Amino acid sequence: MPNQFLIPNSKFLILMGPPGAGKGTQAAKLVKKFSIPQISTGDMFRAAVKSGTELGKQAKACMDAGKLVPDEVTIGIVRERLAEDDCKNGFILDGFPRTVEQADALNKILDEQGKKLTCVLNIHVPSEELIARAVGRRICKKCGATYHVKFHPTKVAGVCDECGGELYQRADDNETTMKNRLDVYEASTRPLIDYYKHAGIYSEIDGRQAIAKVTEALENVLTSVKE
Ligand code: AP5
Ligand code: MG
Ligand code: ZN
Repeated sequence: MPNQFLIPNSKFLILMGPPGAGKGTQAAKLVKKFSIPQISTGDMFRAAVKSGTELGKQAKACMDAGKLVPDEVTIGIVRERLAEDDCKNGFILDGFPRTVEQADALNKILDEQGKKLTCVLNIHVPSEELIARAVGRRICKKCGATYHVKFHPTKVAGVCDECGGELYQRADDNETTMKNRLDVYEASTRPLIDYYKHAGIYSEIDGRQAIAKVTEALENVLTSVKE
């Protein structure tokens, strides 16, 4: 179906990149700038683990091993989420799609909803830097803000700058699981770079720069892109 219902300046974005590249950090900035929701499948699975649902139990086993949650499960939760009202004018997909099957399913979902991807932004960081990023990551229990013990420390150790909440470390942010996550990325997710290059909607951003510089580079791409 043609995009006859699309609102001008709508932004349907995919934020791609290997584990620890800075997807979550940058998505939080883009949410504020463009007033569109961040859809993080990883965050959705972690919320399900916390609530102890069946989905949570299934996801936990995969996440702890650094493996992907099965496609049919992941596609199902994304399909439901994208149908919600706040996704009408745009969204930032963070961590989805991660396989060619998920990318094909996303095309189908968007077609059904009369939406069209605006662009795919890939944050590129060489793998040797990613383990240090994951192992040093700390997250606020209360507001979800992301920090790093070395690269983005809080003013007071262990306490969130934004809300004073306590910081925690993700169960999969250890060296062993992170190595598995990187292997899975290489095998299943990296092929999506060519997939979206072929679709002509792909842009790559150097993720080794400081956090604010990466945000600036992303915003530059987004302000120049034509819907
Ligand atoms: P998910 O939660 O998506 O994890 P991920 O892809 O491995 O990515 P991360 O969240 O680890 O990294 P990020 O890119 O968001 O980096 P961040 O901004 O935090 O998925 C977890 C698991 O869920 C998967 O392994 C899988 O099991 C399952 N799953 C999720 N989606 C799925 C799907 N679609 N299909 C199947 N299974 C799925 O930054 C990292 C650290 O670096 C932080 O400490 C940050 O402060 C720091 N940092 C950020 N930017 C910079 C910078 N420019 N310079 C220095 N440090 C920086
Ligand atoms: Mg993340
Ligand atoms: Zn906080």
